[in-house]
Amino acid sequence: MATPGELARLHAVLNPDEHAHLQRLLGSWSLLSDLSFSDLVLVVPASGLEDEGDSELVVLGQIRPSNRPTRLNQDLVGQSPSRQAWSIAADAMEKGEIVRGEVEGISASGPIASEAIPVRFADRVIAVVVRIGLEQLGPSGPSYERIYFDAFDRLAAMVAESAFPFPDNDVGSEESPRVGDGVVVVDEEGRVQFASPNAMNAFHRMGVYSVPEGRRLVDLGVEESAVEWALTTKRPVVEEVERRPDVIVLVHCIPLVIHGSVTGAVILVRDVTDVRRLDRLLLSKDAAIREVHHRVKNNLQTISSLLRLQARRVTERAGREALHEAERRVRSIAIVHEILSRDPGDQVAFGEIVRALVQMAEDSVVGPPGVTIEVEGDLGDLPADVATPLAVTLAELLQNAVEHAFGVDRRALRSGRSPKRKANGSGGVSGRVRVLLDHDDQGLGVEVRDDGVGLPKGFDIERTTSLGLSIVRDLVVAQLGGSIEMARVPRPEGGGTVVRISVPVAPRH
Ligand SMILES: Nc1ncnc2c1ncn2[C@@H]1O[C@H](COP(=O)(O)OP(=O)(O)O)[C@@H](O)[C@H]1O
Ligand SMILES: [Mg+2]
Repeated sequence: MATPGELARLHAVLNPDEHAHLQRLLGSWSLLSDLSFSDLVLVVPASGLEDEGDSELVVLGQIRPSNRPTRLNQDLVGQSPSRQAWSIAADAMEKGEIVRGEVEGISASGPIASEAIPVRFADRVIAVVVRIGLEQLGPSGPSYERIYFDAFDRLAAMVAESAFPFPDNDVGSEESPRVGDGVVVVDEEGRVQFASPNAMNAFHRMGVYSVPEGRRLVDLGVEESAVEWALTTKRPVVEEVERRPDVIVLVHCIPLVIHGSVTGAVILVRDVTDVRRLDRLLLSKDAAIREVHHRVKNNLQTISSLLRLQARRVTERAGREALHEAERRVRSIAIVHEILSRDPGDQVAFGEIVRALVQMAEDSVVGPPGVTIEVEGDLGDLPADVATPLAVTLAELLQNAVEHAFGVDRRALRSGRSPKRKANGSGGVSGRVRVLLDHDDQGLGVEVRDDGVGLPKGFDIERTTSLGLSIVRDLVVAQLGGSIEMARVPRPEGGGTVVRISVPVAPRH
């Protein structure tokens, strides 16, 4: 099924501004449908407007009233009604005036009295709105029927003279109230001519208990700036009026402008208190999640400080180093929670985590700077349950690079002694570590490459029992379902070690 936009491009000869005008009409014409209690159909000539005679019509849009049963059970969008049966549409297009008559072929019970309203845009009739069914609802109908019809007629005249829909793009958004939510009609001075029962409810909630006809809303204590502004600027105004701490009413004021003069306004009002309350609840849920991450981070930092304190008291070297290692691992997890506590939602910008981990690895090398770590690429936002194991993994790999690749031993790392480094080809002492990140539909790729001494002879990641790489293997393979490769970089390519990790990720929803 083609969208109205596609249909318009396929069939009608419309320039982009005309096209946008029709889109705005389709976005705001529920008002017309409800005020006229009628089905509306938007038709355009299929093969250009200049081409008179028997050019076809194409239906671009259709809307049913929300306050009355529809008369059109069928979906007409995309169809080409016969010119003879829909002659009023062709007439309206040609004359540029509202034409009343009948439409045939859409109801088994015969022709239906209808009217065709030309849609003008900048002096050109670009389409026609056909209102199906004109008859009054009768004595059993609502007493406000006459007022609605009258408001509709004024809006229809605006459509015909290019004054409706308004050029503002933001009007007619999904949020805009419908007639059924509550409608008030005021005259050109803002005096109430009619207020629907739902509109009255909204006023009650705002503390206004009667809205007598003929009184101005402002005299009744209703904030009237939206109405006043719409009447003076001749532009629609959307405003949220907050009365008392917890009543919020959305006011959408549409001025009725004929030949450039304001004759009144239709005001749609909707009590959005509950919607906004839900928004606030959701908002505070986000805040609560952030708070939890913040606390987890604080707890992890406390644990990491305890480990550090404990390490100081251990005289045996191996034990002290083990505690230092544990402290570092806890800190890398804390980094993830720290960043999650700043971002709303359960996704985390991995780039920020990488930055913090790089900083941590660089900080662990005491003494004259000798190891530089560069990062290329990005993994985007990741869910927390992927980001945490990946962060711990990256921390291990970076630590190994600074610790093993350049002959820096652990004592040197922590004692503050200047670490000895492998002499590279040029006799310099600097080491370079590169972190390459990439992300596609298949998964995540993390590569850590150093130009250091390379892996010890006979090294095999599958068989290593050392703790760091065992943790990495467990996280990547068992927890993330990914794979690891570790290899020596051949001398001609600079030597050193490369570790590649790939992790499949489920497509994001
Ligand atoms: N980038 C690297 N360059 C050289 N050797 C490495 C590198 N990464 C790991 N290794 C070797 O793999 C061994 C195991 O690493 P790991 O499991 O992290 O334990 P640890 O870091 O505690 O020694 C290291 O002792 C080291 O010999
Ligand atoms: Mg290690």
